[in-house]
Amino acid sequence: MSDVVILSCSPSQHSKTAKLGEHVAFELRRLSITSTVLSLRDLPAAPLLRGDLEHPTLAAARHQVAEARGIVIATPIFKAAYSGLLKVFLDVLPQYALTGKVVLPLATGGSLAHVLALDYALRPVLQSMAPLNVLPSLFLLDKTLLHSNGTDLCRESLTDLDATLLRFRLALPPAESIWHDQAVA
Ligand SMILES: Cc1cc2nc3c(=O)[nH]c(=O)nc-3n(C[C@H](O)[C@H](O)[C@H](O)COP(=O)(O)O)c2cc1C
Repeated sequence: MSDVVILSCSPSQHSKTAKLGEHVAFELRRLSITSTVLSLRDLPAAPLLRGDLEHPTLAAARHQVAEARGIVIATPIFKAAYSGLLKVFLDVLPQYALTGKVVLPLATGGSLAHVLALDYALRPVLQSMAPLNVLPSLFLLDKTLLHSNGTDLCRESLTDLDATLLRFRLALPPAESIWHDQAVA
């Protein structure tokens, strides 16, 4: 199991947020933190929407989250909030699924008008799931994220991310503090 699970929360096939999630995994590796990217768009849609907790793929995803010390949430901003895909996934987790964990919310968005969306929309939901800590969130403007070739991430736009990931690493709880037998509600 990995120290950190990165929830990649865009439904898009060619997703900027997914690239950001992969980049976070790469940077965490450089900080000696193991991580797994959990692509929510690849989870089976019908069991996810129906809340079929017995489905093996969903059960495996829930287990990955339960075993992690830290959760990075990489979501696009849609309609002034986090993605619906993220909400349906959070809804299939146990009520206190974030117990003992440190959470880092990251967003990509098209407008600075919604820079606070993670704080007013997502943070209260995360707090209801009993995390150890939800770190300050980071919003990245989509037009600054990629080079003009449209595929590679632009390093200059990621300088805040480097400092954010260092803070995240320092905030992670020790592995032995994770409660491995979380009730599945
Ligand atoms: C349906 C839709 C709604 C969007 N709504 C917003 C919004 O309210 N605020 C914002 O800043 N960006 C908004 N955007 C822009 C996306 O957040 C931005 O392009 C993001 O990087 C897309 O991530 P993705 O490529 O991973 O899907 C919206 C995009 C779409 C497709």
